[in-house]
Amino acid sequence: MAREGFEQVIALHDSRSGLRAFLAIHDTSHGPAFGGIRRFVYRDEKNGLIDCLRLSKAMSLKCALAGLPAGGAKMVIFDAPGLDLEAAYAYIGRFIEGLGGLYYAGPDVGTGWDELRFVGRGTEHVAREGRGGSGDLAGATAAGVFAGMAAGLRHVSGAEAWAERTMVIQGLGSVGWRLAERLKKLGCRVLGTDVDEKTCRLAEAELGVEILQPGTEMDQPCDVFAPCAMGGVLHDLSIQRLQTRIVCGAANNPIARSVHAASLHERGILYMPDFVVNSGAVIMGVLFHQNQGSISLNEIEARVGDITGEILGLAAKKDSSPFLVAQFEAERRIALARSKRGAKQETLDTETQEGKAD
Ligand code: NAI
Repeated sequence: MAREGFEQVIALHDSRSGLRAFLAIHDTSHGPAFGGIRRFVYRDEKNGLIDCLRLSKAMSLKCALAGLPAGGAKMVIFDAPGLDLEAAYAYIGRFIEGLGGLYYAGPDVGTGWDELRFVGRGTEHVAREGRGGSGDLAGATAAGVFAGMAAGLRHVSGAEAWAERTMVIQGLGSVGWRLAERLKKLGCRVLGTDVDEKTCRLAEAELGVEILQPGTEMDQPCDVFAPCAMGGVLHDLSIQRLQTRIVCGAANNPIARSVHAASLHERGILYMPDFVVNSGAVIMGVLFHQNQGSISLNEIEARVGDITGEILGLAAKKDSSPFLVAQFEAERRIALARSKRGAKQETLDTETQEGKAD
């Protein structure tokens, strides 16, 4: 916790529902912490905790670069047979309410609107669907990833030229599906995979996605490889297989370790930082809770496009990986906000001491 600067890590257990979960609050120096609730079958507790910590910190980086008055958090639930979903999520809602606005929850793998409705019984500090809600969060993420792809294509070849592009999407879920739909409309050739056979058949029939054999997506020559499933897919071995010019997708932490950003850079592959291009949903969520209004997908796209352009410019100047440049810049902003908060607290403490002395 100290090395990576986490403020709080909380373990939750509720014997009635069978809930076991972790909440990691990485940073609140810019404002309350935002982050989704992931429900997943983890191999063991250590694995779940590591996932929770990495995702939580990535949320802080996302918020800092997007210039949001918010920090990062994440909750992971250990999915298991017998877990009473309704009771577990309702318990989480009451727990979040008890935090008094320190943490705002949203969707993630395993947690959609159905589950968030249970959370919403106990707290207002949660994303809501439909009218009166924050808006289409997966659509916002897809808009940001799209903006990242456009910036990446302009960067490597001077033009988007969508109709000449081949895109490979790993994971055709909420975000991957929306991306595939948009790219197809622009005339791209779209290849895709999903571990869910039914999703593959639907994407083929409804969107015209060319379905790849699972596990072959990394070997496809393409302009953009878009990881839109789980994290950790880019590591020592898989990076060597990639035949793409750009990696740009929605998945959080697609590189197994930071060092893999440098490996991609050395191979001449432009890796668009995940926490920059997939920040559309958190931008939408934070601005909704702050202003009680929805922001359009066009605005999200423009905003993520601007941040991406800024990072690509800086990276080109330094001949460095955009991921490392973005990480450095986000950490710098967080450190600055923390030192300002520390100084403010010191002044308050001194005033309190002086007040007591008077
Ligand atoms: P989702 O759960 O709707 O879709 C993920 C899809 O990936 C599913 O269809 C699943 O069957 C498939 N999948 C899982 N493992 C796979 C594998 N090894 N190979 C191929 N397909 C596989 O999730 P969603 O919302 O589309 O998010 C995708 C990724 O983007 C996740 O990592 C999520 O954390 C991240 N993300 C999503 C945001 C959002 O607004 N939904 C925001 C920021 C990040």
